[in-house]
Amino acid sequence: MNEDKLNEFLGRFVGDLGATITAGQVVVGHRLGLYRALVDNPATADELARRTDCDPRYVTEWLRGQAAGGYVEYDAAGDTYSLTDEQAFILAEPDTAVYAPGAFVLALASLKAEDRITEAFKTGKGMGWHEHDTDVFVGCEQFFRPGYVANLVSSWIPALDGVAEKLTAGAKVVDAGCGLGASTILLAETYPETEVLGCDYHEGSIELARKRAADAGVGERIDFQVASAQDFPGSGYDLVATFDCLHDMGDPAGAARHIRKSLADDGTWLIVEPAAGESVSDNLNPVGRVYYGFSTFLCVPNALSQQGGYSLGAQAGEQAIAALAQEAGFTRFRRATETPFNIVYEARP
Ligand SMILES: C[S@@+](CC[C@H](N)C(=O)[O-])C[C@H]1O[C@@H](n2cnc3c(N)ncnc32)[C@H](O)[C@@H]1O
Repeated sequence: MNEDKLNEFLGRFVGDLGATITAGQVVVGHRLGLYRALVDNPATADELARRTDCDPRYVTEWLRGQAAGGYVEYDAAGDTYSLTDEQAFILAEPDTAVYAPGAFVLALASLKAEDRITEAFKTGKGMGWHEHDTDVFVGCEQFFRPGYVANLVSSWIPALDGVAEKLTAGAKVVDAGCGLGASTILLAETYPETEVLGCDYHEGSIELARKRAADAGVGERIDFQVASAQDFPGSGYDLVATFDCLHDMGDPAGAARHIRKSLADDGTWLIVEPAAGESVSDNLNPVGRVYYGFSTFLCVPNALSQQGGYSLGAQAGEQAIAALAQEAGFTRFRRATETPFNIVYEARP
């Protein structure tokens, strides 16, 4: 055994253990507004406790742990804590491109299924999205929404051939597997002339999506329905979008065929999938680690719980997605654009 390598691996383990328990700390800070209360306003632990109406002893321990992990700054001279602009950007502003607390809400809630998933490794059985803790749905929305707010209207739709013009003039759109409707609501808000249908097989998500749309003032303009990507109603759509959900499906080929049939002749399938390389080796990096982790607890079990025989996993890669589109009768397929977390594909009949 090589002692240097052993120590290096021990260091990695301590870092990961700290990160794991920090997930709980981040979610506590998010729920209680502890980060927000520090923005532009350094505080001692007692001051932060007063600002947020929390117990000072708990806040003290939280701040010390957060400072040890580099999530807040500590000034020993005044015994005060603060957020740098960069920490505030990622920890206190839900509408910026990356909102870390939402990702931790999703991670903690996913881990609540650990006993079921451990058992599933033995049985090979699935676990449906709908069987998870409600915070999986809410955390998923908080995880993905910042990326949609930052990119969907400004770069992803414009990267598609002629789609922005159609949506502006008034078109028919489906957001399949819409979850809590973060992307659906953005589309309805941006393109008031366009008819938008949001659908998901999970009734609880659709109920929450209706509420989110009503709160955003577009409740009347979105038709949310409980339907799978393999059987949503209607035809002649100009755009069908699947955001971070195709790889979750047990029958993505059936979804691709249904989407192909439901599109107008010059329609577009917008496929947003997690960023992934073509081979396992290409994905052995921090982003791949995040996605393989979520995929083990959420994506693969959901796909195995459905009819179809597929379980692509969150790191499926371009070739697998292109093959599904081609087999369903799409003749044009291309990578339209990408971000560090997502790849955006365009498929056309
Ligand atoms: C990772 S979440 C993404 C949700 C949403 N598109 C977003 O980006 O926030 C995956 C979603 O796919 C939905 N889903 C899974 N299988 C489905 C299917 N066969 N048809 C429709 N929706 C499905 C789940 O219920 C869940 O809402």
